Amino acid sequence: MYAFVKLFSALSLLSAAHAFFMPAARADTPPANLSTGGSICSTKQFSIEAALPSDINSNGGEPLPAPVASYPTYTALSVGVQNYTCVNNAWSPIGAITYLFDISCLPQEHHAPFTSFIGALWEAAPPTYTAADIVSLTEEINPGVALGIHYWIPDPVNVTSGKIFAKWDFSQSERMENDTNKANAFLVASEVGSVPDPTNPALNSPWLTEPVLVIDGQPDGDLATQVFRFNSNGGQPPNTTCGSSADFLQVKSTLDFWFFGGYWQNATF
Ligand SMILES: *[C@@H]1O[C@H](CO)[C@@H](O)[C@H](O)[C@H]1NC(C)=O
Ligand SMILES: *[C@@H]1O[C@H](CO)[C@@H](O)[C@H](O)[C@H]1NC(C)=O
Ligand SMILES: *[C@@H]1O[C@H](CO)[C@@H](O)[C@H](O)[C@H]1NC(C)=O
Ligand SMILES: *[C@@H]1O[C@H](CO)[C@@H](O)[C@H](O)[C@H]1NC(C)=O
Ligand SMILES: *[C@@H]1O[C@H](CO)[C@@H](O)[C@H](O)[C@H]1NC(C)=O
Repeated sequence: MYAFVKLFSALSLLSAAHAFFMPAARADTPPANLSTGGSICSTKQFSIEAALPSDINSNGGEPLPAPVASYPTYTALSVGVQNYTCVNNAWSPIGAITYLFDISCLPQEHHAPFTSFIGALWEAAPPTYTAADIVSLTEEINPGVALGIHYWIPDPVNVTSGKIFAKWDFSQSERMENDTNKANAFLVASEVGSVPDPTNPALNSPWLTEPVLVIDGQPDGDLATQVFRFNSNGGQPPNTTCGSSADFLQVKSTLDFWFFGGYWQNATF
């Protein structure tokens, strides 16, 4: 309980940080004619190149491509679990469910330490507390910071392929409540880049670049055209062997997603 109270307090720091940094981050106030669902603070100062170690593509994996825009449309903290099942006696990923919070009002240099700090507290929270509890508590103390949910869906093109695809859904978020395009405030993505976590690849999830899935020439969702996943804390399965295909494992995961392009790119001020 103590650890969870600390987690709650830490997340409430987001609201303090917003109050503290908002005036500077909002020096350029958004034009009145912008769509409403954009990032809370300006994201124009953020640089993915500065967020990734310069040798990120030198340690194996499939290289991360360049971002499709010079700054992200949204910057999100993700807190939740990654699911694993047992395939040929090894843990195999079968998706995740995580909750996303806007961290655009935090200066970029605070993103990685803040994410690790929340990750440590989430690890320490007792099993009776779920990621959903964090969301409701965070929303109580700082309404509007929750952006949406991240989960995985079956292959939207070929139901028998057995593949799963990552989806991010902001359509229910308070940011979008008055937005005329909120129904399309989601994104389904495939994966083009995946490299090992630069500090502890056995423990922390790979860093990824994920472009929007294109179906019949149309992007599957307007939220973004490309997502970067990085600053991973946890998420990898243990290296133990598993027994039957009924085995199921959830591993806590805290990391950052930056979303590039998409319909709300022009709502960035
Ligand atoms: C908002 O207004 C500015 C200045 O009048 C204009 O340049 C811009 O295209 C407008 N944006 C939208 C989304 O209508
Ligand atoms: C992953 O676990 C979450 C939480 O129990 C669950 O809601 C979700 O359906 C699971 N996803 C898969 C693909 O097993
Ligand atoms: C769908 O996936 C199955 C299993 O991988 C494959 O055999 C089939 O050819 C795929 N269908 C299409 C239309 O791609
Ligand atoms: C949506 O509109 C209502 C009524 O004008 C307003 O009170 C609320 O702040 C708006 N929400 C957002 C996220 O802009
Ligand atoms: C599994 O992880 C443990 C603890 O990190 C390590 O000591 C062990 O060598 C690992 N085993 C394999 C087979 O990688």
